[in-house]
Amino acid sequence: MKSKRLTAIADMVQNEPVIDIGTDHAYIPIYLVTNKNFQEVYASDISAKVLEQAKKNIQKYGLENKITLMQNAGLKNINIEFKTAIIAGMGTNTIKEILTGVSDLPETLIIQSNNDLVSLRTFMQDIGYQISEEKVLLEKGQYYIIIHYEKGRDHLSTSEIKFGKSYDKAYLTYLGKKYQKIYELSHKKEYLDLIAELNNFIEKIPD
Ligand SMILES: C[S@@+](CC[C@H](N)C(=O)[O-])C[C@H]1O[C@@H](n2cnc3c(N)ncnc32)[C@H](O)[C@@H]1O
Repeated sequence: MKSKRLTAIADMVQNEPVIDIGTDHAYIPIYLVTNKNFQEVYASDISAKVLEQAKKNIQKYGLENKITLMQNAGLKNINIEFKTAIIAGMGTNTIKEILTGVSDLPETLIIQSNNDLVSLRTFMQDIGYQISEEKVLLEKGQYYIIIHYEKGRDHLSTSEIKFGKSYDKAYLTYLGKKYQKIYELSHKKEYLDLIAELNNFIEKIPD
């Protein structure tokens, strides 16, 4: 798989049955079967058009008997129990919608949101998930945060809600520079406070 982001997401998956929600080209399911020898993989998407291309990709690898395609909005009305669900490449609001009102959420969720990680971390803690791993990935100049969640009670500090649990100094330094630029444009004091909190957070990370 060419994308470092998609490879990193797929490499975090430990347990099947697994469903990739919003699978698009079905690259993650194909990788899980061909590289990790998974046997029970589901690729779902809300869009019928997208699924046509996913089907062609799955056929190209001859994996029709290992990957089940489903047209579906999120996790609703699916009567299969999954150990793991992947939700990647979407915004936090869509991710929240997908996870809201589902009676039987999976034990493990692997989430990569394109925006608003503060809202995502708060929501996930509130619905009863804890972070088991948070990975930072830099691809083509863009940072991606991939979070592995397990069901359980988390107790994130306010700084962990804001800056995460990757403790990746290069990423956190990038965040600091981003806040500095926003401060210079907006002159909002809250960004100075955020930078001070971030610097304090970075200082406490062991080398
Ligand atoms: C930007 S693509 C991301 C594809 C892939 N997961 C990735 O990380 O590259 C978003 C995909 O999610 C699908 N999608 C959006 N909302 C959805 C929902 N509520 N349920 C299932 N699929 C959804 C879209 O049709 C699209 O194929």
